[in-house]
Amino acid sequence: MADLAPIYDLMRGSELNERVGGADPEQVGRFCHHNITLNMEIKPGDRILDFGCGIGRVLLQVANKADPSATIVGMDIMPEVIEFCRDHVTAAFPNVSFELIEGANTHYDKFIDRPAARSKREIIDIYGASFSKAYAFSVFTHVDQPDFPTLLSFVKDLLADHAEFLFTCFILTAYSRAAIRNQTATFKFGDMAFESNEKIFVGNRRDRLAFIAYDIGFLEDMIHRAGFVIAHVHYGAWRGCGFGSSLQDVVVVRKPVGA
Ligand SMILES: C[S@@+](CC[C@H](N)C(=O)[O-])C[C@H]1O[C@@H](n2cnc3c(N)ncnc32)[C@H](O)[C@@H]1O
Repeated sequence: MADLAPIYDLMRGSELNERVGGADPEQVGRFCHHNITLNMEIKPGDRILDFGCGIGRVLLQVANKADPSATIVGMDIMPEVIEFCRDHVTAAFPNVSFELIEGANTHYDKFIDRPAARSKREIIDIYGASFSKAYAFSVFTHVDQPDFPTLLSFVKDLLADHAEFLFTCFILTAYSRAAIRNQTATFKFGDMAFESNEKIFVGNRRDRLAFIAYDIGFLEDMIHRAGFVIAHVHYGAWRGCGFGSSLQDVVVVRKPVGA
């Protein structure tokens, strides 16, 4: 196992840590890795995708605990986080690589100052149908409705048949809707709005993608349209209920044969 302490120290000292959510990167990484282990078994030889890897808070934990025969690719749209990962993570783990991919996101666009190294088409040509496991922490919590199924479908195209994909998001259920309205959710929302017949909730209308939540039925439909099948949903503690294996809601989907 590699000594991750110096890399986490670099993250703590970097302004990039705030861009990917703040908090202590090692704690977040351990917590998310634990969540992966509750939901999927990473095996020797697995090909793993960290979609929206940021500065690699979670990827470091996965790389350190996986068998060295597993390979991991981190992908993100922000040039500086991919540079950080290439400079500091690849040196410690030769089985890990990173790709700067094209993509737009109004919450992150101000940090995208150059064209992506690879288009989505190129990424599919290189990695299409190759990953056996994938995860995306705190990515689909920042994706708007028109992009959500498209992005899910892009990830699906990168996965092999039967591959599992764990992603976090915020889900509107009877309970979470009440928590939002009664201000008992973990997050306090200011200029918030329910939109599209209450199927979508944004926590701040001036920065829509800082917190975006989707109705459970609407989400199921987007997942289905993207070609995935839901395996499990675990509701998170953000609803203010005082329990949950994660702060955010966790959805685990699988790619059926031929999708
Ligand atoms: C809150 S950060 C989380 C980073 C990382 N998953 C973690 O947990 O440390 C969200 C990340 O998603 C990336 N992201 C946003 N939209 C994306 C997209 N369309 N494709 C790939 N990555 C995206 C952002 O650039 C950012 O690094």
